[in-house]
Amino acid sequence: MRATSLAAYFALGLRIAGTYASPAFTFRPYGWQSDRSGGRFAAKTHSHTGLESTDYSPPHLDACGTEISAENLATFEKQFRKQRKAHRAGDEVPNVVIPVNFYIIMANETVGGGYVSDQQIEAQMEVMNAAFSPAGISWQHISTKRVINPLWFHNVGVDQTDAGIQLEMEMKASFSTGDPDVLDVYSTGLGMGNLLGYVRLLPWRYSEDPILAENRAGLDGAIITWLSFPNGPLPQYFLGYNLVHEVGHWAGLAHTFNSVEGPGTCEGPGDYVSDTPVQAYAAHLTLDPAGGVCLAYDTCADQPGIDPINNFMDYAPEPCKTEFTPGQIARMRDVLALYREIET
Ligand SMILES: *[C@@H]1O[C@H](CO)[C@@H](O)[C@H](O)[C@H]1NC(C)=O
Repeated sequence: MRATSLAAYFALGLRIAGTYASPAFTFRPYGWQSDRSGGRFAAKTHSHTGLESTDYSPPHLDACGTEISAENLATFEKQFRKQRKAHRAGDEVPNVVIPVNFYIIMANETVGGGYVSDQQIEAQMEVMNAAFSPAGISWQHISTKRVINPLWFHNVGVDQTDAGIQLEMEMKASFSTGDPDVLDVYSTGLGMGNLLGYVRLLPWRYSEDPILAENRAGLDGAIITWLSFPNGPLPQYFLGYNLVHEVGHWAGLAHTFNSVEGPGTCEGPGDYVSDTPVQAYAAHLTLDPAGGVCLAYDTCADQPGIDPINNFMDYAPEPCKTEFTPGQIARMRDVLALYREIET
């Protein structure tokens, strides 16, 4: 197996860390008011018969990339288990503070063109701090930069060809210092919200590969659509938990529905966290469609627990989301210590 292109080279990160909006998702122009009084999830149109077609894998991934990712993840887990400081689920979690920079990429300076206000950013910081507080992680807002660049706004994350990845790397490198212990957040179009966000590479990849380490400034960080800040216009993603989810990846968490075999299986190590129940499919494919109710299916009935739709690392609508589990918290803190030089 040779990595013949940037796209193949980075396929692992995308496969694990990419967050794709539901295939049935339709973009609502900015200013569209969702009915928050009961019909909240009425916009969800997928049916349970569509279970076999999931958006778990990004469309640009070939089967070869899939095999590599399973292999690499398993290899990583072996090393991680040997080296991790062994925070245990439920251990005391002394507080750490991680600096955050926001880069707001815009097509123009209107709300429809990517503009995000200081108030929105402060609201996002509050959501982040509340969500990560049980993990003993606080976020300190250091800087905000706004840049008008229509090419970046429209193409980054949407174009996954080599040229598109190059563009993303140029964008990130023009801002970031590449410090592993600083969170860089890029807000941009992402297909006008059709893609919610992603981190390109999980944190340990930089220590595995000197080329990646050298290019960290162009690769690291979390990318989100500007529509997913708190009180935004997206019908299911308006609480600011999209960034919480992406930063979960940034700190080393996989999706709770992660499966090396692909969607639909209950076998294997899943997300490598023992207290997140195994689930065969992402929540948005299995939630009870009755309006406004966060009812979980049990897609792996012969294994303990029902689907973890309250977990930040699943794909449930944000009002269903409430937590990281103690196992995820222990994993994040170990990953931050080992791979991000953050003393936890
Ligand atoms: C700003 O950019 C958005 C997205 O490309 C576009 O829909 C809108 O028409 C632009 N507005 C102005 C005033 O140029």
